[in-house]
Amino acid sequence: MAAMLLTKKLEQKGLSVTALISVIITLIVVLYVFGVSEALMAAMSPGAPSEAENACWGRSKCREAEKKHDGKHGELPESFSSSSFHPTECDIHPDNRFDCAPEKLVSQEECQARGCCYSPVSCKRPTVAQPWCFFPPSYPSYKMVNLTTTETGYTARLTRDRPTFMPDDIMNLQLDVVFETESRVHFMLKDPANKRYEVPLETPQTTNKASSMLYSVQFSDDPFGLVILRNSSKRVLLNTTVAPLFFADQFLQISTSVPSPFISGLGEHLTSLILDVNWTKVTLWNRDILPVPSANLYGSHPFYLALEEGGLAHGVFLLNSNAMDVILQPSPALTWRTTGGILDFFVFLGPDPKSVVRQYMDVIGYPFMPPYWALGFHLCRWGYTSTAVTREVVKNMTAAHFPLDVQWNDLDYADAKRDFTFNQDGFSDMPQMVNDFHRQGRRYVMIVDPGISSSSPSGSYKPYDEGLKRGVFILNATGQPLIGKVWPGPTAFPDFTNPETQRWWQDMVKDFHDQVPFDGMWIDMNEPSNFVEGSLEDCPPNKLENPPYVPGVLGGSLKSRTLCASSKQYLSSHYNLHNLYGLTEAIASHDALVKVRGKRPFVISRSTFASHGRYAGHWTGDVLSNWEHLYYTIPAVLLFNFYGVPLVGADVCGFVGNTSEELCVRWTQLGAFYPFMRNHNDHKNMPQEPYVFSPKAQQAMRSALFLRYLLLPYLYTLFHKAHSAGETVARPLYLEFPEDPNTWKVDRQFMWGSGLLITPVLEAGKTEVSGYFPPGTWYNPLTGSTIHSKGQWILLPASLDTINAHVRAGCILPLQEPAFTTTESRKNGMILVVALTEDGVARGDLFWDDGEGLLTFEKGDYTQIAFLAGNGVLVNEIVRLNSQVDGLQLTDVMVFGILSPPHEVLANGVPVSDFSYRTDTKILNIPVALLMGEPFVISWS
Ligand SMILES: *[C@@H]1O[C@H](CO)[C@@H](O)[C@H](O)[C@H]1NC(C)=O
Ligand SMILES: *[C@@H]1O[C@H](CO)[C@@H](O)[C@H](O)[C@H]1NC(C)=O
Ligand SMILES: *[C@@H]1O[C@H](CO)[C@@H](O)[C@H](O)[C@H]1NC(C)=O
Ligand SMILES: *[C@@H]1O[C@H](CO)[C@@H](O)[C@H](O)[C@H]1NC(C)=O
Ligand SMILES: *[C@@H]1O[C@H](CO)[C@@H](O)[C@H](O)[C@H]1NC(C)=O
Repeated sequence: MAAMLLTKKLEQKGLSVTALISVIITLIVVLYVFGVSEALMAAMSPGAPSEAENACWGRSKCREAEKKHDGKHGELPESFSSSSFHPTECDIHPDNRFDCAPEKLVSQEECQARGCCYSPVSCKRPTVAQPWCFFPPSYPSYKMVNLTTTETGYTARLTRDRPTFMPDDIMNLQLDVVFETESRVHFMLKDPANKRYEVPLETPQTTNKASSMLYSVQFSDDPFGLVILRNSSKRVLLNTTVAPLFFADQFLQISTSVPSPFISGLGEHLTSLILDVNWTKVTLWNRDILPVPSANLYGSHPFYLALEEGGLAHGVFLLNSNAMDVILQPSPALTWRTTGGILDFFVFLGPDPKSVVRQYMDVIGYPFMPPYWALGFHLCRWGYTSTAVTREVVKNMTAAHFPLDVQWNDLDYADAKRDFTFNQDGFSDMPQMVNDFHRQGRRYVMIVDPGISSSSPSGSYKPYDEGLKRGVFILNATGQPLIGKVWPGPTAFPDFTNPETQRWWQDMVKDFHDQVPFDGMWIDMNEPSNFVEGSLEDCPPNKLENPPYVPGVLGGSLKSRTLCASSKQYLSSHYNLHNLYGLTEAIASHDALVKVRGKRPFVISRSTFASHGRYAGHWTGDVLSNWEHLYYTIPAVLLFNFYGVPLVGADVCGFVGNTSEELCVRWTQLGAFYPFMRNHNDHKNMPQEPYVFSPKAQQAMRSALFLRYLLLPYLYTLFHKAHSAGETVARPLYLEFPEDPNTWKVDRQFMWGSGLLITPVLEAGKTEVSGYFPPGTWYNPLTGSTIHSKGQWILLPASLDTINAHVRAGCILPLQEPAFTTTESRKNGMILVVALTEDGVARGDLFWDDGEGLLTFEKGDYTQIAFLAGNGVLVNEIVRLNSQVDGLQLTDVMVFGILSPPHEVLANGVPVSDFSYRTDTKILNIPVALLMGEPFVISWS
């Protein structure tokens, strides 16, 4: 049974994988081959949330209105009819109209008084739709004067003669265009007279203009517009001339054409991988809400990637942290509408999608390297009410033979729900519990919320008392700590933009760590969430609380479930800094852990902003335990990889509501391929730890977990590439196969690196799953089955205990025998899966270090080994060696795609007598006993 080596690895952990075996033995792998029919695509796509019928008029009235406006688009009041534009200018296709009344519904009279065209398009008037009131092409905008070239690009002045309908226009602007690299252009619009708020993110500085760019930049003087073209194809990637520019104090708007409707990004939202450009409004304003369609969720990432014909791609990042909307419309075009700051754009030319993502990370920073144990299995729930229960969970996991690296606690541990305390009833031996976990080779993480209890029942509470003394909290209009309400009751909110707050946070973390030697921090509620609107005293009426344009935030106002926008922070107002709250807390927590533990930090945060991945990971919040949300976690995980936050996952089995056994099995199978894997449950629900289910379900979950552990060296190596080279860990198919448009919309499958394709089951009651296989050969390492795809949809068997993961021909994956913790598995024998192409070649690599030291890559304290196969020979090349790899053995090599039985197999010139080969699966299995840290040559002939 050589072909079943990987299955055997799982079996050795006390598993019987009968279903898998029967699949192999009978070798009945029935593959139905589909063309990419529309019907199938439709069947694959999730049920789109039906937009509520939004008829503001009755049917008959509507027809009347249509009649009334028929042929009379944009009837103009006298004052405008003789001015700069002509009524025929209003003859604009509805898809190409740009909204002239974004902030409110206007009447025909109000619209025309703005100098805009009025023409109702349909009976429905949802919040985002073809606008009824829209700009004519000649609508006054800025005009560009004094364009001059600089050492790094261009600079120019923009001026406008007439104010807009928004208050406080800035009539003169400075435009700077910097050709930063051959593939990155940076343009900025700001007020030359007054310094406005800018996001405190350090971006790379350029002193020399790039030469031989992939792009060129053109301008339109009047009205002002900027055009960015791709030189190779002459394709216009950006053209801001399509609608007037607004730059008022609290309303900045810029529109652009986009060259294709295939746009990904602009998170965080509950979306598919490719956004809908049919009048979609996405709102960025960090918010505590369980993921629902169209709502602004926990994080903000004003970045999109757009695919272009032929598999090219570009990206755009607006470095702005204010509340904003982005409107997508079918022309296709896109409008950025933000409520403050400046317009600071980075455009990435790729030319392929993978390069676009890396170029974005060049600006925001590469991801941090997680500790090895972070990639193991994590278990949590709200409702582990004591150390006794928490210990029992770990005991039950062990007894049921499930791996578990990290045990967590939710707020149950805390005394009166206050940070940096543990309750003396259930958790009096919390320090001993954590020490016990450590002795088992496990780690421990607990929740920490930013809200600091401001009214302690027992008098003194050090975090608040000292925080008050050190001036660390966000202040309200009267200069006192703003008091809101979170779990402990009244709370003050640390202002992490203040360096003193960072130091205070470190001190609090240290105090608690001195008592409870925890290993990582789970920072929740950091949008920040507030159970009252703004503060206990509400918010003062001012222009920050009530901006002239309120983006489509849930709750209708900026203070909804958070702090007053006008509250004061060290760097600026909360109005400007709100979206950075989670990021700044993540930085403080990351730094505190480095200081306190002296090891690689582990922080998982709910709220995020661009550059978050440099410091922490993310989980996708309070997802529902249903099949629809199971699907949505895939685009969420893939998009966070684009945002430079590869350590991301969703709560396995779902958080809100009871899971079901089948859902939990399928979720565990998918979750085994989240870069961060944690099962977490709400307190009201039925339990969902793997051991509570039927033996059959447990078996399936166990296989999934051990498969993950088997793959950890490969996963860890992918994290190293993310950290060192700006790559993604989990990625959509189109990142690997951009020239194949069939991959563009695929978001029910995904890849780990370039070598592993995962096709999970996302629906109830299925025993088969359909997946797209890009052209090439794909090997299933569990069954030994092979797919030769021309670029096809293929139906795969998928009974409840089946995981469909396929290795791409041409790749070598480093694996390791699993164990119950990574502490143990890191000592086990390693396995190489060599997936040969038809030409018989493959390559791969391994990054290895101590798994938790600080800056091992930066210090050169690691081992890196490349593996190469070709012409019947597999060799390793030791690129770098350190002592961590001492004693690490290579015990098995599995070569896929060897067409005829070899006569002889040699390892370092010595015959391997017990190799085995199967003619049906074409797999050669070579047991060896070699050291990973020494050169080897393995050959077959
Ligand atoms: C443009 O340059 C001219 C000549 O240097 C100068 O007089 C004018 O003020 C400049 N205009 C703006 C808007 O800066
Ligand atoms: C940019 O858009 C404007 C307005 O729609 C249009 O007139 C112009 O031709 C466009 N420029 C390019 C290069 O496509
Ligand atoms: C866009 O949405 C409208 C309204 O829901 C619908 O009638 C129309 O068919 C959609 N267009 C496309 C291209 O999907
Ligand atoms: C642990 O397992 C025992 C025996 O099945 C069960 O009674 C108990 O409820 C489990 N404990 C927890 C915390 O799940
Ligand atoms: C500011 O907060 C304090 C509590 O710290 C409160 O007493 C005061 O009323 C608040 N001021 C305003 C204007 O809300």
